[in-house]
Amino acid sequence: MLSIRLEQPEDVGLIYELNKLAFGQVNEAELVDALREIGALSYSLVAFDNSEIVGHLALSPVTIHHDQNVVEAIGLGPMAVKPTYQRKGIGTQLFNYWLNNFDTEQYGIVVVLGHPEYYPKLGFVQADRYGIKWEINVPPEAFMVRELRAGALNAIKGIVKYHPKFNQL
Ligand SMILES: CC(C)(COP(=O)(O)OP(=O)(O)OC[C@H]1O[C@@H](n2cnc3c(N)ncnc32)[C@H](O)[C@@H]1OP(=O)(O)O)[C@@H](O)C(=O)NCCC(=O)NCCS
Repeated sequence: MLSIRLEQPEDVGLIYELNKLAFGQVNEAELVDALREIGALSYSLVAFDNSEIVGHLALSPVTIHHDQNVVEAIGLGPMAVKPTYQRKGIGTQLFNYWLNNFDTEQYGIVVVLGHPEYYPKLGFVQADRYGIKWEINVPPEAFMVRELRAGALNAIKGIVKYHPKFNQL
């Protein structure tokens, strides 16, 4: 049976191994550790199948810059599901758990850089349609946004900056 909760200290090593396995490299695992170390891991959720860690979702603060204005929002990622458990709904359950169990409205919007075939299933749309871009040039369909507070997408636009650790990915 699947259960989801916030990470506990004893999960840290297993979260590293899960990200390494899911991405086939250590970069995302190292990023999660670095964000945790500097206090920039806003949420770190783990999904368990009985006692085995099979999914992980990280969210961290982003800022959105427009002229002289700076707005705070939140960025999703990395998200990792153990390869043998992928496409069974675990990523979707992790995201919905976050939406349903925390005060997500406060962030207005959540952004993600990721698979353009996957994130629209979680309600994301291409960000540049709303005048929102990542500070780094990426294919426009890979940078997406989802509203967390009604009307926020009409009110927020600009250039998104993640924590600089993301730029080293
Ligand atoms: C991307 C990832 C987190 C998705 O988690 P998941 O538990 O496999 O996803 P879900 O089972 O909730 O998928 C929901 C839907 O998205 C589809 N989907 C999942 N991964 C997909 C992918 N990589 N590309 C396209 N569609 C995908 C599923 O088929 C499913 O569609 P359906 O409901 O119409 O059948 C997981 O596949 C993963 O860890 N991949 C490797 C690491 C990675 O790429 N992370 C994301 C970086 S942004």
